Amino acid sequence: MNNYYDKIAHLYDATRPLPQSVSEQIADCILELVKATPETKFLEPGIGTGRTGYSIIQRGYSYTGIDVSKEMMDELRHKFSKMPENLTLLQGDASTLPFEDNLFDVVITAHILHCLQDPFAGLNEIRRVLKPNGVYLSCENLISSYQKTFEDILRGILGQYQPESSQNCPSAMQTKPNLFGEGMKQLLSDLGATVETLTAARWQQSHTVAELFDIYQSRALGVCWTVPDELFYKAMEEFKECLKQYYESFEVVLYDEVTFELTVARNFSKPLTSVMVNA
Ligand SMILES: C[S@@+](CC[C@H](N)C(=O)[O-])C[C@H]1O[C@@H](n2cnc3c(N)ncnc32)[C@H](O)[C@@H]1O
Repeated sequence: MNNYYDKIAHLYDATRPLPQSVSEQIADCILELVKATPETKFLEPGIGTGRTGYSIIQRGYSYTGIDVSKEMMDELRHKFSKMPENLTLLQGDASTLPFEDNLFDVVITAHILHCLQDPFAGLNEIRRVLKPNGVYLSCENLISSYQKTFEDILRGILGQYQPESSQNCPSAMQTKPNLFGEGMKQLLSDLGATVETLTAARWQQSHTVAELFDIYQSRALGVCWTVPDELFYKAMEEFKECLKQYYESFEVVLYDEVTFELTVARNFSKPLTSVMVNA
């Protein structure tokens, strides 16, 4: 089991910087929402480098993370001088969780369900391992408008380099449910959960054009893996030229507010079927 996250694990946190004060704010918000006690057991499928759970782990709560990428979890391990006793990390697939039913009080996911071949299998597993009165938190760290502009330009360029066969292949055209924002809220509501959404944190982010370009050039984001290596480097030359024209200088500093959003689901107990696609 491996994926491109193995290759970019050491770069991953730079792609979505989460200052320590923001991480603390997110932890405060989550602990309050779930009314955490010293007995509360957290699970995070697709824990990655632990951006979301780090401050909860630091505060001593029982936290289990599972991820296909050992390299991503190693980044989390290295954030601690000694592996915390309250943290359990397992390498495995979020579509088949190696846990008994009704084990966790809180399940957290952040930017992982869309990575699964069958997101419904992942959601079903979350439902299965949650205690009946447990809480499921689907987190989304929304990117800045300037990063979105970068991605729109890059996607346009990469699209021209993708072989037509892959654009038309049936698996690429398969509909996945909308697992973000309103789509996720609707899906969880349709499943009978009581759902609320809220912003756990908002903060200012800034990059120079050069800094952000370096992140894409190092292929630290998923969009950069949609074409083979040799085409990617050609596409990046084109991308650089487009950015030069768009921003005029690579030293321009870009600013924006970014947010960390939570979709909170309680009574998340009905089994899912893949018929319930909301996209
Ligand atoms: C976009 S990253 C998100 C990491 C982290 N949750 C965050 O928000 O920073 C996606 C993570 O999901 C993991 N992942 C992908 N497919 C997975 C699977 N089938 N089972 C478990 N983890 C998976 C990747 O290795 C990666 O660490």
